[in-house]
Amino acid sequence: MKRFVLAVTGASGVCYGKRLFDCLKGQAEIHVIVSERGAELLNVELGLKPAYFKGKHVKLHKTTRINSSIASGSFRVDGMAIVPASMGTIGRIAAGISGNLIERAADVMLKEKRKLIIVPREAPLSTIHLKNLLALDQAGALILPASPGFYQGQNTVEALVDFVVARILDHLGVEQDLMPPYDA
Ligand SMILES: Cc1cc2nc3c(=O)[nH]c(=O)nc-3n(C[C@H](O)[C@H](O)[C@H](O)COP(=O)(O)O)c2cc1C
Repeated sequence: MKRFVLAVTGASGVCYGKRLFDCLKGQAEIHVIVSERGAELLNVELGLKPAYFKGKHVKLHKTTRINSSIASGSFRVDGMAIVPASMGTIGRIAAGISGNLIERAADVMLKEKRKLIIVPREAPLSTIHLKNLLALDQAGALILPASPGFYQGQNTVEALVDFVVARILDHLGVEQDLMPPYDA
């Protein structure tokens, strides 16, 4: 069974993180971390609490618990996705702060040359945001913006969320049937 880390931070679009969790649940071991602001957005946008992220093979970590398994490079994980990723978290990871478990787990992914998928959500983007995203790209992260395409025909909110989540699953190496490959 593959092992992934999913971090949900305080950007709009927590529906993407929830949908990713729902798709991975039962298929992979999932280590979830929700930032304090991420918990607020979960409540505001979906009426959910972090306790939603539970189940078999799921571990919900506290952001303050920096000595968790996923804070160590010796604990092998197949990938980490930050969905959605706030510009605050992105800036702190780009600066190597490692001040909470999300930042540390991401830092570990970069130093161990493992897959780190960052799904930013902000508009417009400042020079600082762009520089931080470039720094993370150069450090080996994959920047996968929460910007769905509209060419699949079905443009319900659910279909647009699935568009982004399908790309995340593709990059995590997880089979998905949310969106077929484009074939005109
Ligand atoms: C309702 C609400 C919506 C927000 N949306 C975004 C957003 O889309 N993108 C972003 O980068 N920050 C957004 N923020 C700001 C972040 O939540 C804030 O910078 C926070 O400190 C990020 O903390 P975290 O990275 O630890 O989750 C939002 C804040 C609130 C209260």
